[in-house]
Amino acid sequence: MRRIEPGLIVLLFVAGCTPAPQPQLPDPGSQGAALVMANCTECHGAPMPSVHPAKEWAGVLRRMQNWRTTKGMGPIPEKDVAPLLEYLKSHGRAE
Ligand code: HEC
Repeated sequence: MRRIEPGLIVLLFVAGCTPAPQPQLPDPGSQGAALVMANCTECHGAPMPSVHPAKEWAGVLRRMQNWRTTKGMGPIPEKDVAPLLEYLKSHGRAE
């Protein structure tokens, strides 16, 4: 029986774990995009604001705050919540 090169297995493993390329957040240099990268990528990829219309974002954000609590992480800093929500809403999809 042929032995499989251990090096090859490591290579396959690494390749298998490479995350899919992420579409870029709108207005990537803005404070809002930086806040998404800082507060919204610990559990999943950076969420695109266009997945929800503006009116839904406050509710989604509340649910994400609950997830942070459930996972033993602190809440998003108070001063960051308003600009983060503003960013998500302003780039939200049309109704
Ligand atoms: C502590 C982990 C955690 C963090 C941090 C987190 N999320 Fe999530 N997120 C989840 C989990 C778990 C799900 C899947 C279950 C669900 O939808 O509630 C999810 C799902 C989502 C979804 C897809 C479901 C939907 O309602 O559209 C969006 C969008 C999303 N998160 C946005 C965000 C945003 C924005 C932030 C930052 C403010 C964030 N998440 C931070 C855990 C997290």
